Formats: sequence, structure tokens, C-alpha cells
Amino acid sequence: MEFQTRTTGLERYDLPYRALPETDLAAIRTDVRLFGRRLRAPLVIGAMTGGAGASASINRNLARAAQKLGLGMMLGSQRIMLEEPAAAASFRVRDVAPDILLLGNLGIAQLNRGYGADHVRRAIDDVGADGLAFHANPLQEAVQEAGDGDFRGLVRRLEEVVADVRAPLLLKEVGHGLDTDTVRAVAAVGLAGLDVAGAGGTSWARVEQYVRHGEVVQPELAEWGIPTADAIVGARCHAPELTLIASGGIRSGLDVAKAIALGADAVAIALPLLRPALESADAVCTALERLLEELRVAMHCTGTRDVAELRRVHLLVRVVVGPS
Ligand SMILES: Cc1cc2nc3c(=O)[nH]c(=O)nc-3n(C[C@H](O)[C@H](O)[C@H](O)COP(=O)(O)O)c2cc1C
Repeated sequence: MEFQTRTTGLERYDLPYRALPETDLAAIRTDVRLFGRRLRAPLVIGAMTGGAGASASINRNLARAAQKLGLGMMLGSQRIMLEEPAAAASFRVRDVAPDILLLGNLGIAQLNRGYGADHVRRAIDDVGADGLAFHANPLQEAVQEAGDGDFRGLVRRLEEVVADVRAPLLLKEVGHGLDTDTVRAVAAVGLAGLDVAGAGGTSWARVEQYVRHGEVVQPELAEWGIPTADAIVGARCHAPELTLIASGGIRSGLDVAKAIALGADAVAIALPLLRPALESADAVCTALERLLEELRVAMHCTGTRDVAELRRVHLLVRVVVGPS
């Protein structure tokens, strides 16, 4: 369900390798502050699920892992729990993850369908979240059967809601990327952060075609989107004050390090954690620990002692000559 030809663009960059770094691997610090919580590493488990079938156990496994490792977590879209209160239980993870950064999630298109500040507050309060991310997903909705097509006027609606909700609110995409016009349009509405959710990882235009037709019938739509690396650079440039999360195809500790060096404050990872989350919290921990260890090695071998120093690293642009 991932992009087949479009990549994150992170492969265009290299971390500068240092043969004699002035660092001690054992003393590398990856901790950061994000939306008022301290995280042991700049990593948030991406928004995935809630409501149906196995989602309660998936969310609890993800939340237990986030608690154990000191990471953050975004819930999947909470629309279902606002419309069917019985579904709320599958989103409630605070009993197993009392200390994590927990972000709720709603589709921004719902703001054109009668949703407002009250719904957002309910989504946050009901699960004890620290804030909430709105997902903007016009391509996913357009490919879906009977998806939401009306995205008009949403910047103003967002501004109204942000003014009326005290908790930190974010805007994210779902894997086709936040573009610079959108970032500019929302930069001053009072959001706390953005998650670029760029192209190169999960392609929702691909997923939705499988769901609807059993196959990909519009392959170019499935491959459309702003590569994650470009989305990070654009968002950082046009919203320098906002907390920036990078997601979309972040698959290794080196990807995490590069995303941060390009301007992100943290990353989010979704798809690679789905299979482990179906299994157990330990399986999620194993996948994440591997990646966090890789991040520490990457930081050590670029000579950066902490995430603030990693932010200042100048990446090398790889020049590919001939067929790559
Ligand atoms: C199974 C699955 C379900 C998802 N559900 C949501 C969702 O409910 N709300 C949302 O904002 N994003 C959702 N996403 C998008 C992710 O949060 C993320 O932005 C995107 O998948 C890119 O990250 P990845 O390449 O690491 O998967 C979902 C992703 C996956 C894989």
C-alpha cells in the first residue's frame, strides 16, 4: 500500500559522516519537548486507527509501547466515536499510557459538515489527549467512494475552531503532503503544529483504489504527492514558528536524523508499526527500539550530542551521475 515509484526524497541527502566525532555513543541524548511533554526521542506513533474490529487492541499495544519508550502517539480518526459513543472505548488508552504525548485526530472536512469546537473538545477530553491533529486528505476523499469533496472555506473554519479550543491543534496530511500554499494559508491561524505527511510511504490514493475496485485503476493518482523531504523544507520555510512533525515513509533511524536536519522537530511513523501492533506491545517496542538505536548511531557518527545539534547539521546533497 506504499508508493511504488515516488520516494520521500530523503535519499537525495546524506548525513555527513565523521570518522572522528567528538561524541560518546553512550552519552547521546535524543530527548525533546513536544507540545508540553518530554519525549525520550523525537518520535510519535502515527495516526492509524480506532473504532472497528481489532483497533482497541492495536491502540493499546501502540500506547503501551509509547509509554514504555517515552514516545508520543496520535490516535486514528475519532469521527466514529463522536457519532457512535460505543466506539469511544477503542480510543481510550490513558490507563495504559498515563504519561505519553497523546494527540487526537479528526478530518478537517468535517468542519464543513457541522463539526465545530465542541466536537473537537469532546474528541480531546473523552480520551484525555493533549491536543488534536486535523487531517486534510482531498486526494484520499476524492478517490474514495462517496468521500468528502467539499474542502471550500476550511482555512476560515479552522481559524474559528482554533480560536475556540485551548488545546494545541495541528494540521496534517495523510501521505500526499502539505504544500507550501497550504502551509502559508494556515501559518497564522493559531495552530500549534503541522505534520507534513508527505509522499514516499503509505499512499492513501492507492489504498482507497484497492478498497473500492480491488485493484489500482488510476495509477498516476496513486503516485501523486509532495515528497516528504520537500514538504519538510517547504513547511519549515513558510511556517518557521510552528512545531513541525515529519511523516510519510520514515522507515529508519537515518530517515529520522535526516528529517530533523532538514527542519522537522520530530517524526511520525505509521504503517511499519501496524503489523507489530496486531501482535503485541513488545513487538512494537522491538521495531521502535531498533530504529531509535539507529538514530543514536547516526547522531554519534555525525558528531551531534543532542537533537538541537542534529537540527544544525548541514546535509550533503547526493549528486547521482548516470543511471542510479
Ligand atoms: C493503517 C493506517 C491508518 C491511518 N489512519 C489515519 C487516520 O485515521 N487519520 C490520519 O490523520 N492519518 C491516518 N493515517 C496516515 C498516517 O498517520 C500517516 O500520515 C501516513 O500513513 C504516512 O506515514 P507512513 O508512511 O509512516 O505510513 C493512517 C495510516 C495507516 C497506515
